[in-house]
Amino acid sequence: MRIGLAGTGRIGAFHARTLAGLDSVDSLVLFDVVPEAARAAADAVGGTVAPSIEALLASDLDGFVITTGTHTHAELIRAGLAAGIPTFCEKPVAGDVASSVELANLAADTDVPVHIGFQRRFDAGYRRLRDAVQGGELGWIHSVRAATHDQSPPPAAYIPTSGGLFRDCSVHDFDILRFVTGREVVSVYGVGANKGERFFTEGGDVDTAAAVLTLDDGTLAMVSATRYNGAGHDVRMEVHGSAGAMSVGLDDSYAFTSAEAGVQFPPGPRHWSFMERFLPAYQVELGAFVDVAAGRIPSPCTVADGLAAARIAEACSISREQDRPVELSEIPGLP
Ligand SMILES: NC(=O)c1ccc[n+]([C@@H]2O[C@H](COP(=O)([O-])OP(=O)(O)OC[C@H]3O[C@@H](n4cnc5c(N)ncnc54)[C@H](O)[C@@H]3O)[C@@H](O)[C@H]2O)c1
Repeated sequence: MRIGLAGTGRIGAFHARTLAGLDSVDSLVLFDVVPEAARAAADAVGGTVAPSIEALLASDLDGFVITTGTHTHAELIRAGLAAGIPTFCEKPVAGDVASSVELANLAADTDVPVHIGFQRRFDAGYRRLRDAVQGGELGWIHSVRAATHDQSPPPAAYIPTSGGLFRDCSVHDFDILRFVTGREVVSVYGVGANKGERFFTEGGDVDTAAAVLTLDDGTLAMVSATRYNGAGHDVRMEVHGSAGAMSVGLDDSYAFTSAEAGVQFPPGPRHWSFMERFLPAYQVELGAFVDVAAGRIPSPCTVADGLAAARIAEACSISREQDRPVELSEIPGLP
């Protein structure tokens, strides 16, 4: 198969390497608005460079992968759909909810599949947790705790186009919360703080945030995110039920030191980046996209799923900014 990829930055160059390693991918064509970035990524994987997005989309592709900055996702998904090419787009769907709603409607009106990149859906731990929750192994669920604690901030230039911490980072927790529980969020209360570098405040963002979410069956979820976790890259989800509790991320790499005397757990080594933590999940995810592009499976994470996570992130962002609880019914794009 021939795959085209737009945006060869942090995650794009990484995805290009993963795609190049898949048996069914024969050739890769890359494009970036910074030609040197595309050239470097292409050289690293034995791919070719397209001179423009139009040339990329016209190069007889079987699949189109979008790994550009968030603010460009909407126009590129539209371009992929217009060209009739099965499209993978990194999370989030778009920079704002209105565009996500428009894209969800557009995707629903076409047979061209779109796969949104929430890689936790392909992580073995989250899948085991989902089976336990939805199979009743934990009894009835009363609470969930989810954390995405990055070890260090992305470059300052990334922040103004990221959408903010809830839309950029916690959106992973919002998607996987729906995936694991099979429930929808009905209301949220979000807060945030910035004790780190000034570029967060200057970009209208925070470096640390937390939210309490109520699900449609009354389950409570507590979600936290930070850009400054000196202990390492710490991504976890704990689900607590009447018959048991189970955690994703509670393994030897757990980015914690126990305060209890004599406890040696966890032995390490820790993870220091999302790429390291989720390498196997990204590989399975892009393998699944190749299956989507070949028509073997439907999209495992649709634009409608991306919209659902975006609406929760929007509600949390409004809650933080306006210092009040927000009902999901206030956010446009109800299914
Ligand atoms: N799923 C995950 O775990 C994960 C992790 C990191 C980033 N992301 C998402 O991936 C996207 C990219 O993030 P990043 O950290 O790689 O950003 P980045 O800034 O490092 O890279 C973006 C690249 O896109 C290029 N670009 C911008 N506009 C373009 C356009 N119109 N056409 C072609 N190229 C264009 C830029 O020149 C840059 O090279 C973001 O939407 C982010 O949310 C997802």
